[in-house]
Formats: sequence, structure tokens, C-alpha cells
Amino acid sequence: MDGALALFLGGGGTGRAGVGVWSASARVTTTPTARTGQAGSDTPDGPGGQVGGEICRAGICEHTVRRCLDAPAGSWDGTINGLYGLPAGTDICLTDGVSAAALITIERVPDVVARTISAVHPLDAGGLRSRRHGGAAMIELARIEAAAGLIADHLVRTPTVPSPGLSDLLGVPVTVKLELLQRTGSFKARGATAKLLSLDDAQRAAGVVAVSGGNHAIAVAVMARALDVKATVVMPRSAPARAAEICTAAGATLRLTDDMSAAFALMDQLRADGLTLVHPFDDPVVVAGQGTVGLELADDAPELTDVLVSIGGGALISGVAAALRARRPQVRIWGVETVGAQAMSRARAAGGPVPVELSSIVLTLSAPMVSALTYDHVTELVSEVLVVSDAEAVRGTLELAEHGKVWAEPAAGCLLPAARQVIDRVGPQTRIGLVVCGGNSTVADVTGWAARFDLR
Ligand SMILES: Cc1ncc(COP(=O)(O)O)c(C=O)c1O
Repeated sequence: MDGALALFLGGGGTGRAGVGVWSASARVTTTPTARTGQAGSDTPDGPGGQVGGEICRAGICEHTVRRCLDAPAGSWDGTINGLYGLPAGTDICLTDGVSAAALITIERVPDVVARTISAVHPLDAGGLRSRRHGGAAMIELARIEAAAGLIADHLVRTPTVPSPGLSDLLGVPVTVKLELLQRTGSFKARGATAKLLSLDDAQRAAGVVAVSGGNHAIAVAVMARALDVKATVVMPRSAPARAAEICTAAGATLRLTDDMSAAFALMDQLRADGLTLVHPFDDPVVVAGQGTVGLELADDAPELTDVLVSIGGGALISGVAAALRARRPQVRIWGVETVGAQAMSRARAAGGPVPVELSSIVLTLSAPMVSALTYDHVTELVSEVLVVSDAEAVRGTLELAEHGKVWAEPAAGCLLPAARQVIDRVGPQTRIGLVVCGGNSTVADVTGWAARFDLR
């Protein structure tokens, strides 16, 4: 492949109707040999199809070139999967239609390729910045590695294991990252610990505040006690009693409010009094902490082609995607939400974070709005955000128990129906990784949901 000429086109990661490109990119090489089995090469190039990741025969790519160039402006936002994995030294020409989003992605491709691209098409840094919604800085690999070093002594390096049961169920190799075995029962302990360890002496003395009725509250309360920092947790009275009990048992000061808006008002007051906020997702330190999951996956399961991560406010997927795409550039990352907890998919449709109505039973994924920080990461690094129903998420939770032998929450159960969607799209040669993010549901929770959706 040395010296091959590649023609790179922009790609749309959002599966827009009419364009239908779910993960599009194309590159043409003068070498006529098709390199099959690459990301996206299995996806039919039918109406609105794509050739992501494929080094294909010139004829096929020319067909796609015309279709992509005909696509309406703005339809090429998203991840440009195909660029990753190009051999070093490949010459790349950019066509006129390449969007700023594509350029951002190109900018983030490992050095050797990026340098080659720059030589052909110098990037317009001003344009790149303006494309990002909030101009949020991307989390760099070094920052995630630093977080990993910081938190290592306090947390569990959770197992990454092949799952024979889930592989049989889905018909493709499935590997699970068992983050439900993490201290506090979810990955949330990583970001909380990174944040707590980043405080200076004055901040430690004043203490921290978190607003949450779920895993974030538990993680902040438990890890604050472990690190000898005073924590206040604010939650609405409607929050699950179990979370409140765990926080109190961990020694946190629990402040109950009538509703969520009152909780945020109290949080503002406590911050004004000098407490440091531990935000569940809109904080680069927290994102870097969650990203350590991605580092471990990259080390422990280098063979994965597709990794699925559920999304609430988006810190977990942002960190995992930043780590994984830096360490394993060929991997595709897929986000998963449930119907009625769609802060990220709505943000992507709107072109930036927007407030959303919440109605999903999956409370741990129910963020009222994502942040510019997480939106930017998902826009640049994630192939697509898939949405599944609550009933599917609960069925997935039962399947994780029965076939995967793990007691997970529906925030993880939603990954199974989404994995079926990924398999339908990328084909049977996929090697799936599931970040089994949390296991803090009670038997009563799970049996109640199963009865509600008539599942057995
Ligand atoms: C178990 C579990 N999975 C996934 C998420 C989503 O994480 P994020 O808000 O970082 O997207 C949460 C958030 O609370 C969670 O508790």
C-alpha cells in the first residue's frame, strides 16, 4: 500500500434519512484490490449505503463519491471512521465537500497520517473551532492516562472477559467490561475519585457537593469517605431510598428537596458557601476519570471492532471514546440511550445540547441535557447514538443475567438490543465489546420492571 493515493470524502455519522449514510467515509486507492473485512466494508452500498472504512474498487467508490457530493450541506457531520487505519505514508486528497466535522476528525487521526493530510490540505483552525458547539477542549489521552495513575490505588481494575453466553446469544464474539464490579457498583467511582483527588487542601477542607439520586451520589459519598473529604449529597425526595441509605451510611450529609429544581437551587447555594461541585458529566476531570475504562478495554481487548456504551449526560462515552480512539483508532464506538432519556440523540439532531423531557424508567440514563463538552466528544468520536425502548432495556437486563451471568442495571441492559442493531449494520465479522456500566438495581426493581413489561 505504500505510496497509494487515497481520496477522502466526508462522512455522516447520524444516519440521516435521505442521505442514509450511517457511518460514511470513502477512500479510493489506485490499487484495485479490495481490502475487505474492514470497518464498514460489509455494509451494503445500496440506496444511501456507505463504504466506511473500505478501500474499495474505484468504480464503487466513484459511485459513492457522486452520492456524497450530492448530499445536502450539513449531512456529513459525524465520525469519519474510514480514515482510521490508513497505512502510514498514504497520500490523501480532500474533496471540496469535506465538512468541518470531517476536518476535526482528520486533525485527530494519529500523527503520521495527519501530517500527510496537512501537507495536502492545510486545516483551517478557525473553522475547526467554530464547528464545535461550545468550543470545549477535547480530552487528551495523556490526561486519561494521568487519571488512571491517580485513581489506580483506590479502585478496582475491573475484569474484561469474553462472554460465551452472550456470544452464543448474539451469534458473534462478545466481550464484557465488568464495570458493575467496580467499587460502589458502577464506573461512577472513577470520575468521582479523580475529582476528589484533584482538590487542593482548601477545597478538601470545605468539602464537596453532588446532586444526584443514583450512582453518582453513591460514588461521591463512598469515595469521599474513603479519601477523607466531607461530602454533601442533594437529592429530591423521590430519589430511590436505597441511594439515600447508602449515602447516609457512607457518612455524607444528605439534603432532600421537594424536586430537582429545588435540588439545583440548593446546590448553587452550597457552592456559594464554598463547597466544590462534583458534576456527574460536565467536568473534564470526571470525563478523564471515566475514560480510564476505555484505557483498560484497549489494553485488555485489542481485538474489538465495535464498543457499545450507554449515555446519560455523556461523560462515560466521552472518556471511553477519547481513550479507545486514541489507542485503538479502528474501533467504532456506539452510544446507547433509552426512549425518554435521549439527551444526546436530541442534541445531535438539534446541533447542540437542548433540554429534553424525561420519561424513561432508566433513571440512571435520565440526564435533562448533555453538556457542550460531552456533545463535542460524541459528535467527533462516536459512530452513532442508538435508541432502544425501556422494555428492550429490561429484557436486555434479564438476558445479561441469564446468558451473561451478571446482575446489571437496565442502563447496561440497553446495550444488548443495541448490539443487535450494530450486528445488523456491520455484519457477522464484528467483535462486540459491552461496557457493563453498573449493577445497582435491586431484585425488587428488576422483577417489578419485568412484570410491568410482561417479560419472563
Ligand atoms: C450505570 C450507569 N450507566 C451509565 C450512565 C451514564 O453515564 P454518563 O452520565 O456519564 O453518560 C450512568 C449515569 O449515571 C450510570 O449510572
